[in-house]
Amino acid sequence: MQTVRQLPALREAVAAFRAAGERVALVPTMGALHDGHLALVEAAKRAATRVIVSIFVNPKQFGPNEDLAKYPRKELADSRMLSTAGADLLWLPPVEVMYPEGFETTVSVAGVSQVLDGAARPGHFDGVATVVTKLFNQVQPDVALFGEKDWQQLQVIRRLVADLDLPVEILGVPTYRDDDGLALSSRNAYLIAEERARAVALPRALGFAERAIAKGDDPEGALAQARETLAAAGFEVDYVALADAETLGDPVAGRPMRLLGAARIGGTRLIDNIPVTTNEHG
Ligand code: PAF
Repeated sequence: MQTVRQLPALREAVAAFRAAGERVALVPTMGALHDGHLALVEAAKRAATRVIVSIFVNPKQFGPNEDLAKYPRKELADSRMLSTAGADLLWLPPVEVMYPEGFETTVSVAGVSQVLDGAARPGHFDGVATVVTKLFNQVQPDVALFGEKDWQQLQVIRRLVADLDLPVEILGVPTYRDDDGLALSSRNAYLIAEERARAVALPRALGFAERAIAKGDDPEGALAQARETLAAAGFEVDYVALADAETLGDPVAGRPMRLLGAARIGGTRLIDNIPVTTNEHG
């Protein structure tokens, strides 16, 4: 696996892939890799002949009181994992390559960026949209893969790609879960053992609410019950919401819906989401 930190070297490597007629996949990450990221790499290998993984802890998607400084950085372990997993190239731009002095541009996707996590974390999705646009322009992949765990992020990126006619196919990869159901996340590393044990309340509360809604119970009651369950497990709830799966706005009869939750345990903010299967709402 090649490791590249400067743009000219990246462009040269990608040009060589292209000259050889390869189909190029990009897996954008912020590092601190886990099995969920490896599932993205595996899916990328099925979707393309060359796999580029980027690791960049993007300062623009962290709020002023968020965890940018303590976000786990594990370059050596990540690089070994990716090499074993069969990635072809690791794109590791330093911050001054991604955002050189004088950088002034923000990419902002209205609507889908403004609700739920967008409301709870102002500016977060602008930071994501800006860095993902840059990564697409740097790598120029045929296909890019994102985890469904960050469901709203995936919808923001789909909107961005459609609106700006970006020539890249976006693939969502199902959430990778621990045996007890907790979605894997680099931030799970912050949880102490007792918080980790209680964290499973998040997928369980969502699953319980989903089954209630699917069998026709009042959604508001099911969501309220999920919030109560989470509060009883020691979570501070940001939101538990039923939303249109694509726009993240209010559910619309006949369109796919998603159940999403965000809550803090100790100092750690966890998110999760699942599809809602009802005949009534499609
Ligand atoms: O999901 C992530 O790890 C990040 O938000 C992403 C897409 C790599 C952009 O920084």
